[in-house]
Amino acid sequence: AGIAFGLDAPYSVEYHDRVGSTNERARELAGEGAADVAVVADEQTGSRGRLDREWVAPSGGVWLSVLTRPDVPTARAPLFTLAAAVATTDAARQAGVDARIKWPNDVLVAGDGNGEGGGDPDPTGRGGRKLAGILTEMEGEADRVGWLVVGVGVNANLDPETLPAGATSLSAERGAPVDRRRFAATLLERYAELTASPEALDGVLPAWRERASTLGRRVRVEAADGVVEGTAVDVAEPGALVIDTDEGRRRVHAGDCEHLRD
Ligand code: BTN
Repeated sequence: AGIAFGLDAPYSVEYHDRVGSTNERARELAGEGAADVAVVADEQTGSRGRLDREWVAPSGGVWLSVLTRPDVPTARAPLFTLAAAVATTDAARQAGVDARIKWPNDVLVAGDGNGEGGGDPDPTGRGGRKLAGILTEMEGEADRVGWLVVGVGVNANLDPETLPAGATSLSAERGAPVDRRRFAATLLERYAELTASPEALDGVLPAWRERASTLGRRVRVEAADGVVEGTAVDVAEPGALVIDTDEGRRRVHAGDCEHLRD
């Protein structure tokens, strides 16, 4: 089934019924000098998640990677990942699923999963399950991004039984399949809008904060230089999580974040 969708965004779409990994394909295109391409697949046979993890990507999901060559300093590159999380959250909400972002870039169903709504109202107790993940890869000089590939994997129309523990799908949460073309178009258009210019990028952190599930929560982050535990209070340029710990305020730039029960 080919996906042909009208797109109001400055990307050409390369669609595959089946591909190893849309990120890999986008990197290949980057090597050929291409720019502004969205690689979209119905199924991936060798997709990758963050931290070298495997990512399950059967037919029924929205699997895509956007290749751009933004004229921005490399230090601002993390904003593109956060922009993709915002765009994915907005597409999920348009599809009728209340989604929020877990730092840095997991898109979850709203709620904390304990049915009581520590931070978010969570009447079903299914909140906190993962709907989508993002994997960004880039190459560049210290002062300028060369190419940037932002890969987004969305569990759209999938049976949660077939997904890893802690994951869910849009179709399971809303009780009906989503229109994947419309979802992909909304996501890409919103991403294009949020990353259109340096001024537009200034709006990414405020938009991220508004959709965050992590802020105000107790968290445990496994960062490169050890475990940081405390209350997440903010996200700061270019995407660091600010955590109040017993030893004072810390900023973490990358790592695995776990929301703790309050
Ligand atoms: C994560 O670990 O949460 C990130 C998952 C990213 C998966 C997507 S699916 C489209 C793109 N192609 C890949 O091989 N990975 C990303």
